[in-house]
Amino acid sequence: MAKKDHKMFAALFDRYMRIAGLTNEQLADKIRKSSTTISRYRSREIRIKRDTLLKCINPFGFPEREKGLEECNELLGEMGHHELSPAEEKEHFPEKPKETRFDWGNRREANFFVGRSKELEKLERWILKDECRLVSIVGFGGTGKTSLSIELAGVGKTALSEQLANKICSNFDYVIWRSLYSAPPIKEILTGIIKFVSDQQDVEPSEHSIAKLLEYLQKRRCLLILDNVEDIFQAGEYVGEYRKNREEYGKLFKDIGKIFHKSCLLLNSRVIPPEIEWSARSHKDVVKVLSLTGLNMEEGRKIFNHVNNDFAHSPELDAQWQTIMANAKGNPFLLERLAEDITSMGNLSEFLAKKYAMSWDLKDFLAKIVERLSAAEKEILYWLGMVTK
Ligand SMILES: Nc1ncnc2c1ncn2[C@@H]1O[C@H](COP(=O)(O)OP(=O)(O)OP(=O)(O)O)[C@@H](O)[C@H]1O
Ligand SMILES: [Mg+2]
Repeated sequence: MAKKDHKMFAALFDRYMRIAGLTNEQLADKIRKSSTTISRYRSREIRIKRDTLLKCINPFGFPEREKGLEECNELLGEMGHHELSPAEEKEHFPEKPKETRFDWGNRREANFFVGRSKELEKLERWILKDECRLVSIVGFGGTGKTSLSIELAGVGKTALSEQLANKICSNFDYVIWRSLYSAPPIKEILTGIIKFVSDQQDVEPSEHSIAKLLEYLQKRRCLLILDNVEDIFQAGEYVGEYRKNREEYGKLFKDIGKIFHKSCLLLNSRVIPPEIEWSARSHKDVVKVLSLTGLNMEEGRKIFNHVNNDFAHSPELDAQWQTIMANAKGNPFLLERLAEDITSMGNLSEFLAKKYAMSWDLKDFLAKIVERLSAAEKEILYWLGMVTK
């Protein structure tokens, strides 16, 4: 057989570089060669070895392409290398689930949702385009220790994640939702997740569950959502510190941000885990934090109107709307409760005359938040007159 001059190989190689949008430098970085070497492969000055060519399979995106396997074998053939063996085929072209698999855990059903288009856009960009490994939605700007306001809770973190997950789920092989409400042991949470992402193959609890989960997050594209993360932290004086025997969650957050994988952990919390604060600085391209604030005037009013449609045509409410929104800080949970209170009172004027007095239900809600604060923070709240002793 006449010795090939590999012209066809070079043309194909160029084509896949182009399709993947790769420069010589970018490919060089991915397959650990110099960019000069890449340009010499392309100009047929040097012959690319088979194992080096195999390293191009993922950068060229073959596993994602419909005829990727055929194209890959063609490329190998043009260079005079033999095709992928069945074992290599399995390794480089793992069988993917045909459709996204869901394990929504005990997620509640999302129904009514308004606004947040900017936040949704930003989160979608971070997760899909920038391929962030860890994204956290927190309900305030600073750290748990300094946050005092009612924006801590009910600002819409869960609702926003639900909306986002519904929107982007088809980009993932697996979507898993877990609540850390009541601080379940990490072993329990990880065993359940690993069982699901391994298609029920890996069912035994392991001492090395974090490492094992990371292996799956590398092999399969998973969207993992952890809600109510603040519950693994202590309340009161030690807010910001993990509860006893829950410190390993910190390692999970740290490793997910630090170690390469192709999945995303979306995390909702009233307090920001210290490891995430740290990762958001040291791995800022792939770890992001979104501080969620209240809804705007118009969106807030939609919440009111959703609870009671009569509110949509109330000049009396129009006149007070700014004050109500300022008091509730656009917090959707508070707005819902206020709208329900006014409805059950049956008289808007009476309610407004009481200057938005809080019903027992709202007090109960605030009491739960106050429980999480330190003595010093509580003192400030008493001093501000936001709560009574
Ligand atoms: N954008 C929205 N549109 C409509 N309703 C919303 C929106 N955001 C939040 N809500 C409603 O407000 C309430 C509080 O929202 P959510 O539970 O998401 O808050 P949260 O920040 O997760 O609170 P927590 O800190 O207690 O977990 C829920 O009843 C939710 O349905
Ligand atoms: Mg929530």
